[in-house]
Amino acid sequence: MGLDAFSLKGRVAVVTGGSRGIGEEIAVAMAEAGADVAPVARSEDALEATADRIEEAGGTAHPRPLDVTDVAAVEAMFDDVEATLGEVDVLVNNAGVNPYFGNTRNLDVETWNTILNVNVTGAFHCAREFGRRVDERDGTGSIVNVASVGGVVALPYQTPYTASKHAMVGMTKSLAVEWTPQIRVNALAPGYVKTEFTKGVRENEDIRDDILETIPQNRFADPDEIAASAVYLASDAAGYVTGEIHVADGGIAAQ
Ligand SMILES: NC(=O)c1ccc[n+]([C@@H]2O[C@H](COP(=O)([O-])OP(=O)(O)OC[C@H]3O[C@@H](n4cnc5c(N)ncnc54)[C@H](OP(=O)(O)O)[C@@H]3O)[C@@H](O)[C@H]2O)c1
Repeated sequence: MGLDAFSLKGRVAVVTGGSRGIGEEIAVAMAEAGADVAPVARSEDALEATADRIEEAGGTAHPRPLDVTDVAAVEAMFDDVEATLGEVDVLVNNAGVNPYFGNTRNLDVETWNTILNVNVTGAFHCAREFGRRVDERDGTGSIVNVASVGGVVALPYQTPYTASKHAMVGMTKSLAVEWTPQIRVNALAPGYVKTEFTKGVRENEDIRDDILETIPQNRFADPDEIAASAVYLASDAAGYVTGEIHVADGGIAAQ
């Protein structure tokens, strides 16, 4: 098998949460690997900026506003992407939120529901729609669910987030077995990555130092280090890989 197996040439990818951070880098990396890419999220201006980078990388971009919690909008997004870029081969479920850091005794139900709704139900909406479409055309495809090291180990004081990412890992395994061999389904579990998402904890010296102590590599990842794994999982190079939880965390989960 040559390096061509890592190519996404001729593929169409939808990347949720493609407006910034890890999703933006995954969208650009997939374009560099040859794919046409639809970055989807709520912030239209930021999506345009991602689209410019996709085009610079040689891909055709179709930025598309989407709230993954809106099931009708998810269906409409797939119609729209299919009409412009063609049938979708790769779905990256990356949209996610983590608005709560604190003792679970003080957590309100609304925040719990918001986190589960975006991180788990939003990913389910997109996976189900993708699964139906691949089945209807009797095709093949690949799903990459961006979970977290918090889907594999405990992240105390981030309980709703940890629960949501463990749910994503469970969904990944179940779908991988249910939809094989047409669709490969894998999860990518990053550790701490330098994005807006972790800005608060990285800028608080005490919390930052505590976190760094838990990371054997003693550093935070750049988003493009996570994007490389997503390209691999989506590509034919990972043809025998399904139901895997691919951890990219500087060694946290290995301890
Ligand atoms: N950064 C880390 O250390 C880290 C570690 C492990 C896992 N992760 C996971 O990686 C993913 C990306 O995180 P990030 O660090 O890149 O965070 P980020 O910079 O905050 O980006 C989050 C992305 O999700 C989108 N999003 C949020 N709610 C959405 C909704 N309802 N519908 C559609 N899009 C929505 C945001 O776009 P809009 O606001 O424009 O909608 C944005 O593009 C998340 O699933 C996160 O849990 C991150």
